[in-house]
Amino acid sequence: MTKHVPPVSPDNTFRTEILAGLTAGRKTISSKWLYDDVGSHLFEAITELDAYYPTRTELAILEQNRRKYARLPGTRGAMVELGSGSSRKTDLLLGAFSDLSVYMPIDISANHLKTAAEKVRRAYPSLAVIPVAADFTQPLGQLPLLPELPVVVFFPGSTIGNFEKAEAAQLLGNIRKIMPESTMIVGVDRPKAEEVLIEAYDDPAGITAAFNQNLLQRINRELGADFDLASFTHRAVWNGLESRVEMHLESLRDQSVSVAGTRIDFAAGETVHTENSHKYSEEAFTGIANEGGWRVLDRDSDKDGLFSVYTLQAV
Ligand code: AVJ
Repeated sequence: MTKHVPPVSPDNTFRTEILAGLTAGRKTISSKWLYDDVGSHLFEAITELDAYYPTRTELAILEQNRRKYARLPGTRGAMVELGSGSSRKTDLLLGAFSDLSVYMPIDISANHLKTAAEKVRRAYPSLAVIPVAADFTQPLGQLPLLPELPVVVFFPGSTIGNFEKAEAAQLLGNIRKIMPESTMIVGVDRPKAEEVLIEAYDDPAGITAAFNQNLLQRINRELGADFDLASFTHRAVWNGLESRVEMHLESLRDQSVSVAGTRIDFAAGETVHTENSHKYSEEAFTGIANEGGWRVLDRDSDKDGLFSVYTLQAV
């Protein structure tokens, strides 16, 4: 059974947050809302694209180093995974962590979580699988934790990059507070040529565009809004000052949209900012980890320096 801790979207969190974001001076929507069922499937499709280098690169780093990771103390207890993303990454680690007794994936998408948990149960029958449907960007105070077990936190995919820098440090701090003495394996995307980044976030097949636009469809579906999808276009922009790729949805004309009974005006060229994907140098990420109360034990990268997997120790 999937535990809901707390309810992922208590009644009107989605509505409240969307309306707040669309009525702000600069329109913005948190990227966590990209992951409804359709969005989760579109994201899976993105991870298969040639243009989207992070998934295959991180997978290769994990595969190369998993025997080393298996020596981390937490692998004799529980693995807590934040954002149960690609099951292939999980499977790589679970296959190497033969002394593990508990696997606890935490994800905002309850359905996605359920499918992933069932796969793991079938492949590792002796493992206790405890899926938790929760928004881990919110305080995780009520996690059903296992204080007597050592813990390894697995936080793949450079999801940490989707947070503002201060929030990323705060999130790492929260994780450390709930799971003191744990170790963490965290995937972090790195700065690289702008063309490579833009291609990855504005792929030629248009899957990332569909992923971004699904947010408007979701708002139409769940909040009875009337976004005209053809009047908004996907934009991926490199913000060098912040070292991040930003996704936006740009209004192609002056228009008004009704969202849950509220009228929202858009000027031609105005955007809704839907995602940040920060790219961290070693120095920058070490700073954030330290700020959150973690010490960097180790860093593994691919030979082209596209992506890094850090091993952290809670201090
Ligand atoms: C959720 C962090 C894995 O920021 O690269 C992929 C989401 N957005 N394409 C990222 C995403 C557009 C992704 N992660």
